[in-house]
Amino acid sequence: MVGHNVPVTTQASADLFARARAVTPGGVNSPVRAFNAVGGTPRFIRSASGAWLTDVDGNDYVDLICSWGPMLLGHAHPEVQAAVQAAVARGTSYGTPTEPEVELAEEIVARTPVDKVRFVSSGTEATMSAIRLARGVTGRDVVVKFAGCYHGHVDSLLASAGSGLATFAVPGTPGVPASSTELTLVLPYNDRTAVEAAFAEHGDRIACLITEAAPGNMGVVPPEPGFNRFLAETCRAHGALFISDEVMTGFRVTRQGQWGLDGAVEGWRPDLVTFGKVMGGGFPAAAFGGRADVMANLAPEGPVYQAGTLSGNPIATTAGLATLRLATDEVYARIREVADAIRTAAADALDAAGVPHVVQSSGTMFSVFFTAEPVLDFAGASTTDSAAYAAFFHAMLDRKVYLPPSAYEAWFVSSAHDDRAVTTVLDALPEAARAAAAVAEGA
Ligand SMILES: Cc1ncc(COP(=O)(O)O)c(C=O)c1O
Repeated sequence: MVGHNVPVTTQASADLFARARAVTPGGVNSPVRAFNAVGGTPRFIRSASGAWLTDVDGNDYVDLICSWGPMLLGHAHPEVQAAVQAAVARGTSYGTPTEPEVELAEEIVARTPVDKVRFVSSGTEATMSAIRLARGVTGRDVVVKFAGCYHGHVDSLLASAGSGLATFAVPGTPGVPASSTELTLVLPYNDRTAVEAAFAEHGDRIACLITEAAPGNMGVVPPEPGFNRFLAETCRAHGALFISDEVMTGFRVTRQGQWGLDGAVEGWRPDLVTFGKVMGGGFPAAAFGGRADVMANLAPEGPVYQAGTLSGNPIATTAGLATLRLATDEVYARIREVADAIRTAAADALDAAGVPHVVQSSGTMFSVFFTAEPVLDFAGASTTDSAAYAAFFHAMLDRKVYLPPSAYEAWFVSSAHDDRAVTTVLDALPEAARAAAAVAEGA
């Protein structure tokens, strides 16, 4: 195994990054890929197999982002590949209904609390469409979301909290008009009092509340016990719809997503659910679904318009179907084992190095906060020591482990993470923890 004294050549990545920056803003097609939060040269990946990524310089890395969630079975799974290759040979898009999309919809309906599902091409489209449907069904306009929950780059959801708890939001980025966020309420996560206050003041105007089923986009911040049920019940009491965003958690934290950890146990159902990532098997596919009576409002059955040229694409739905059918209980058991081994070893290494940290998880999704106190919300997540994380990240990268290039992201593993991959991670952790200690506040 490559040790930390072996020089890593990154010249080919650096050359590609220079070319990329000349033709693409920041050189990347999604901001986090640019390494801005950790510094250094982003690795351009040429190929991937199982748990490993190979960059254009020929360096191998154990992959702990798994394409930000989708690659539940690891990269280039032979059976998924075979299904995709056979589908490609039949043509790549027809603009007509197809069999794989029916089969994938049946698989999703069988596993999750939705009666009907509509396919789209990205998680952003899924949440945007679910909100339109909720507004169309309720005839109301206001949307409630939580600070630190990311639902894609939907204008009305790129919002920052207003000055008071029940005050409407302001745009979270230039380019979003105030008129797009003035119907959005942004609340602190895990805060029942804030939810009660917002519904007390605006309840009859609220179309829906959207939440990540277990937030993973500020690092992993699990819902406190009963919090999702409380949200579902509050929405119901006020005639609003409860949208559970399972784009990241769906088919990932458990076979049934986050709902398998709370709703299925506690006996409640969200009105609408959004899906993405794993259900596309590494292709651009996502979906939103829900109660039959709610989904009946969607065109062409009902009046709420929604459409897409590549929606339900036969290659993407074939990849998603193959992935979900292969995602057996044994697959989740292995992912749990790998996740447990890595998060325990990370905590031990950081303890030994004296770096303040908290490891948080929901099912098999987890992350490490470089902060001393348990993180309940975005304010807590923001206390993470990002300089310490950057040092940790680069020390891991030097030892062939590719972590999320940002302190505020979940770590993802797959069933293809075999003992060699896990050992590579465990061997790298002590030295990376010492690198973090060298710059950590309070270490
Ligand atoms: C919970 C959640 N919702 C929505 C999205 C948006 O999905 P996409 O990037 O496919 O538009 C993401 C993306 O990471 C997500 O994590």
